[in-house]
Amino acid sequence: MITKLLDAQDVAEAAAWIQRGEPVGMPTETVYGLACDALNPDAVRRVFAAKGRPADNPLIVHIADFADWAPLVKEIPPLAQKLAEQFWPGPLTIILPRTEQIPAVTAGGLDTVGVRFPAHPVAQALIQASGVPLAAPSGNRSGSPSPTTSAHMMQDMDGRIPAVLEGGSCLCGVESTVVALDDAQTIRVLRPGFVTPEQLGRIAENVIVDDAVLTKLSTNAIVRSPGMKYKHYAPNAQVTLVQGDQDAFLQYMQPRLAAGVCALVFDADAAACKARGIPYHTYGDTDEARAAAFFAALREADAAHITHLYVRAPRTDGVGLAVYNRLIRAAGYDVVQV
Ligand code: TXA
Ligand code: MG
Repeated sequence: MITKLLDAQDVAEAAAWIQRGEPVGMPTETVYGLACDALNPDAVRRVFAAKGRPADNPLIVHIADFADWAPLVKEIPPLAQKLAEQFWPGPLTIILPRTEQIPAVTAGGLDTVGVRFPAHPVAQALIQASGVPLAAPSGNRSGSPSPTTSAHMMQDMDGRIPAVLEGGSCLCGVESTVVALDDAQTIRVLRPGFVTPEQLGRIAENVIVDDAVLTKLSTNAIVRSPGMKYKHYAPNAQVTLVQGDQDAFLQYMQPRLAAGVCALVFDADAAACKARGIPYHTYGDTDEARAAAFFAALREADAAHITHLYVRAPRTDGVGLAVYNRLIRAAGYDVVQV
């Protein structure tokens, strides 16, 4: 049985599990993570096993003090330093060549490591109490929607890990932005997240959104972020992403209404939608940028035994890019234009 550790007072108990090499559920401001001692290869193998994650997909390493970054990476270029000063603690992961401190298994065999300093106070407390950097992928079973509450983590990890630390609902609701540096002035977004390309553009001359973010890669393509290869973030239902305005979307849905069919819609569409509709609070026609409810909406569709989920596609600017990126993967690239 998984134990739910209720609050920051239980951090010491969670840290004791980590020190014994066991993975523990950790709240962060983005999604819940499955945390372990990043420097202990056996602990890291347990995380891969609990998630059912392919061994070539590296884990992000979490720190809670700027000083703990330098020992993990070969060098910190000025642009990386600027990124950290601007966005840490927060939802940004910075990839740099790793030192020998990071075991190969943590890095999925790559010679780089992604480091993040999360903003969530419970995550910070757990990292500090553990006394080591914590490797933490999202706490879902591989392929499933990421968990944004402790209950989601319990659903996926009960019987597989000893404990999950309660930290409330995740504020961002979508994972961190993963970036690499192409040169001294160029940031490459490998995975869009809560920190947007527009925000990154304020501190670097060039921001490139990697091709893998919005397009399907050919099977042999070299992928800079291994996670982008896999079908991902998917509920049990078949997902179709529908691109179009509210009228066109509702018309498209009309002949498809049936038992087991559900629409994932913007808040503003909910009243007009005749299908069973789950609003996912992300933006479309307005500038409101909230990603917080969309993974939970995918899980809600599963709980309702939905077999086909039609999702009104969000815009691809701001945080919408991150939501769109998750949705096309959930949809296996099944996108319909109406
Ligand atoms: O917000 C987040 O980033 C959450 C919380 C728990 O911190 N973590 C998370 O981890 O989303 P995960 O493992 O689910 O996703 C990490 C992504 C994967 O797509 C992985 O391939 C990529 O980051 N990644 C990690 N290290 C990398 C590296 N060294 N080079 C390229 N991509 C890397
Ligand atoms: Mg993940």
